Amino acid sequence: MPSAAPSVPGAWPVAGHALSMMRNPLDFVTSLAAHGDVVRIRLGPLPVHAITHPELVRRVLVDDARHFERGRLFEKAALFFGGGVGTVSGAAHVQQRRTLQPAFQRGKLADYTPLVREAVEETVARWRPGQVLPVTDVMNDLSFAMLTNTLFTVGFTREAAAAVQRSVPVLLRGAMVRTILPEWWTRLPTPGNRRFTRAIDDMGAAVDGAIAAYREEGKDHGDLLSMLLTLRDENGARLTDRQVHDQVINFAIAGIETTGATLAWLFHELGRDPETEARVHEELDTVLGGRPPRHEDLPALEFTGRVVMEVLRLYAVWMFTRRTLAPIRLGDVVIPAGGEVLYSPYALHHDPRWFPDPDAFDPDRWLPARAAALPKGAFIPFGAGAHQCMGNTYAFTEALVAAAVVCGRWRLCPIPGTRVRRTATIDVHPDHLPMTAEPREAAVR
Ligand code: HEM
Repeated sequence: MPSAAPSVPGAWPVAGHALSMMRNPLDFVTSLAAHGDVVRIRLGPLPVHAITHPELVRRVLVDDARHFERGRLFEKAALFFGGGVGTVSGAAHVQQRRTLQPAFQRGKLADYTPLVREAVEETVARWRPGQVLPVTDVMNDLSFAMLTNTLFTVGFTREAAAAVQRSVPVLLRGAMVRTILPEWWTRLPTPGNRRFTRAIDDMGAAVDGAIAAYREEGKDHGDLLSMLLTLRDENGARLTDRQVHDQVINFAIAGIETTGATLAWLFHELGRDPETEARVHEELDTVLGGRPPRHEDLPALEFTGRVVMEVLRLYAVWMFTRRTLAPIRLGDVVIPAGGEVLYSPYALHHDPRWFPDPDAFDPDRWLPARAAALPKGAFIPFGAGAHQCMGNTYAFTEALVAAAVVCGRWRLCPIPGTRVRRTATIDVHPDHLPMTAEPREAAVR
């Protein structure tokens, strides 16, 4: 017999769970599974069903995906990301995705690897022995450089790049706040809301500048932006500047800080786990023998790959939404049509039922036999189904190449006494991560 989803205790009279969720999002989402596989929370007056069991999350994202649209987070995001592939639902989404997919085909990824490597090499060439690096910022800059080396190869001036870098975190936080808090709050003239409006304008202007530069040059650079500018729809019409603009914003928002945070956490974990770091060094020395990584080397970097997997598990995106298009039964619970649904890769990845000692950094969880025992849907750093991350293999390649180039020559060493906190916007990144760069041989001695 279907029943109502259990309500999660701790709702405040008017705000519901919005304040707990804003105050401590990661603890909040990881606490939900204790109350059931499908549980009810309240954001102000708005009821939301949070899905905490991997099998049911998989039904939402894959098996029964046709009964869902993207929901509140994406609707809020579309107000400023526009109608790009990362925000639209249904037939428009299928069409956009099909059109954009060639930029991420296997052959393209092989072409990107040397360009990604070049971006990492340029970054590490600026480091000096003993220099204290703000690793969160350095990795965000690197992530952006990898994107501009591969997908948007001309057009972003230094000022435009800085504007994008400044705007992305503000926009991600803005999307989170607008999902959790009521509409009226977002219209108040608070400093945060003003920063958000400014970030939309700055980001828009930077992207428009890049598009104008491409159009003026009129050359095909063989990258994503050139592809967007030459695409024709089924009637033979080119995309409008607005459509191109929306896609670029979507990729920038989806691809910069997520990858930057993954890289920052990777070096944080290696810095505080010398044994794992030594295993990475050993593998790099064996496979590469001191030369730069090539695309065909990447499969042989098995252990380093497991390190990346474990970072993706520990620091996954913490909140995505969907909305039901018709009543649907999940487990014992029927969610009515138009019901808001939340799923959290972060919470699934910290559930001790699937990941014993979930906070421990253990790359060997990803040894094939152990990984095969996981239930489907328990590990979804890139989501699943029709909306699975378009940049998943690309991002994995970026992380592997960055780890190989950096760890080939450098160690990033933690600074004793530094407390590194997790900040959750949509992604989860280290708030402040100073580390000392030491050349590898010097640090090993
Ligand atoms: C480690 C880095 C990354 C992580 C953890 C990540 C994670 C995700 C997740 C979980 C989703 C699914 C959202 C949903 O269920 O609605 C997603 C979607 C998406 N990601 Fe990523 N992402 C990363 C990097 C990238 C990069 C580098 C790009 C492109 C350059 C990218 C482009 C996209 C796009 C376009 C979508 C929307 C796909 C669709 O709706 O069809 N992502 N990402």
